[in-house]
Amino acid sequence: MIVRHLVVEDLDCVTALEASVLSAWKREQVVAELQRQAGISLVAERVAGELLGWCCGFGIGREAELLKVTVHSGRRRAGVACALLQALQQFFAAKGMEQLFLEVRSQNVPALALYAKLGFSEVGVRRNYYKYPVDDAHVLACRLAGSPYTDETSRKTF
Ligand SMILES: CC(C)(COP(=O)(O)OP(=O)(O)OC[C@H]1O[C@@H](n2cnc3c(N)ncnc32)[C@H](O)[C@@H]1OP(=O)(O)O)[C@@H](O)C(=O)NCCC(=O)NCCS
Repeated sequence: MIVRHLVVEDLDCVTALEASVLSAWKREQVVAELQRQAGISLVAERVAGELLGWCCGFGIGREAELLKVTVHSGRRRAGVACALLQALQQFFAAKGMEQLFLEVRSQNVPALALYAKLGFSEVGVRRNYYKYPVDDAHVLACRLAGSPYTDETSRKTF
């Protein structure tokens, strides 16, 4: 498996992959991330053209945000998301960013387990943040390697 930057030629595969999950992104949203200056979009592939998953995020100042991570349903529990997110963490750490944030559905057990494994902890809850179906968002954060991080805020509800 290799992890590389997303390119225009990946758009059809990423759009098809997104169509299979909750809170699916449309093609235009993926294109917008590809064009975002402070952003990064990565794909994982086993061999050229066989897309296993993708992720994207952006950073401002010392904080970065993970916006999306999706892995093909037939390729899960094989370390694809871990590889994508570790590459993303390394990218933002190298840019001098200190924390990486994300939001996740409270019912998304696989994603919560994934983020715990990668060192994220909860910093807040956004009630009824998601629709179709309605769900709370857990706001998680992790320290990026080599940077100071204090979890000064106790758990809070936005
Ligand atoms: C969540 C998701 C990205 C995980 O991708 P993945 O490639 O299967 O994850 P990995 O194989 O890298 O798993 C890493 C760790 O996450 C945890 N994990 C992943 N899937 C899990 C599951 N179904 N149940 C329990 N733990 C799970 C485990 O700790 C796992 O490590 P292990 O396999 O050594 O036990 C994938 O299930 C997915 O695409 N889901 C739909 C989209 C989604 O929910 N995205 C996140 C939105 S916030």
